[in-house]
Amino acid sequence: MMISETHGNQSKILTIESLNRRIIAIKYAIRGPIAIRAAEIEQQLKKDDHNFPFDHLIRANAGDCHASGNQVPITYIRQFIAGCSYPPLMETPDFPLDIKCKVESLLSACGGRSLGSYTEAPGIFTIRQDIADYIHRRDGHPSNPEDIYLCDGVTNGIRTVLKLIMNNDLKKPSGVMTPIPQFPLYSATLSEYGIYEIEYYLDEDNNWEVNMEELEKALNKEKDNCVPRCIVVINPGNPTGKKRFSIKN
Ligand SMILES: Cc1ncc(COP(=O)(O)O)c(C=O)c1O
Repeated sequence: MMISETHGNQSKILTIESLNRRIIAIKYAIRGPIAIRAAEIEQQLKKDDHNFPFDHLIRANAGDCHASGNQVPITYIRQFIAGCSYPPLMETPDFPLDIKCKVESLLSACGGRSLGSYTEAPGIFTIRQDIADYIHRRDGHPSNPEDIYLCDGVTNGIRTVLKLIMNNDLKKPSGVMTPIPQFPLYSATLSEYGIYEIEYYLDEDNNWEVNMEELEKALNKEKDNCVPRCIVVINPGNPTGKKRFSIKN
């Protein structure tokens, strides 16, 4: 951390004024004022003398099914993670055989049979191979595990790809087409990286479809301000819920 208190005539190194302007410009609605107000209300609800006509909040801002209590965690995934991180659990009769086999197969691919060991930079090869096989089965054409890069969540993957298309040209930055409405990660990351956002509207009257005319309109409007390089298509749509079976068109 680079913040230092004022000592003698030395001043703070990192202040709101000196902070990277692009970070200040970031907007992330699902963590914004409504989420902050919800946290305040939650604190007030813990007190006996609150005046709210309800006694608990359901946070719908981030679509968090687990936090709302409406989605039971999937046992298979929990057992698999538990077994990999604490292998002695596999000796108990409570774990089904298929989980034990999966755990064994992953641990045997890890250095020292430990989930804590370092992996290759793109991730454990066996997992990438499984993903490639899945893509092959699903899409009917071969997939190369060497082309697969594992990330801890979607955010890091998206940020890595967007970083690759930055051109660092302040006068004519790279442009990325993003849907409206969208999940805020995209506009926030573009703003952080200084990438130009080309907004295109989804067609609400047509079940939130991507509309070719609208894409062309948005592109033509902004193409002189940036170098258009990429389009974000969210599938299935968040927050619209629209499932696009094919984006070929
Ligand atoms: C469209 C979209 N992109 C990115 C994310 C962020 O994903 P993660 O939490 O895995 O980083 C989400 C999360 O809901 C999302 O819906």
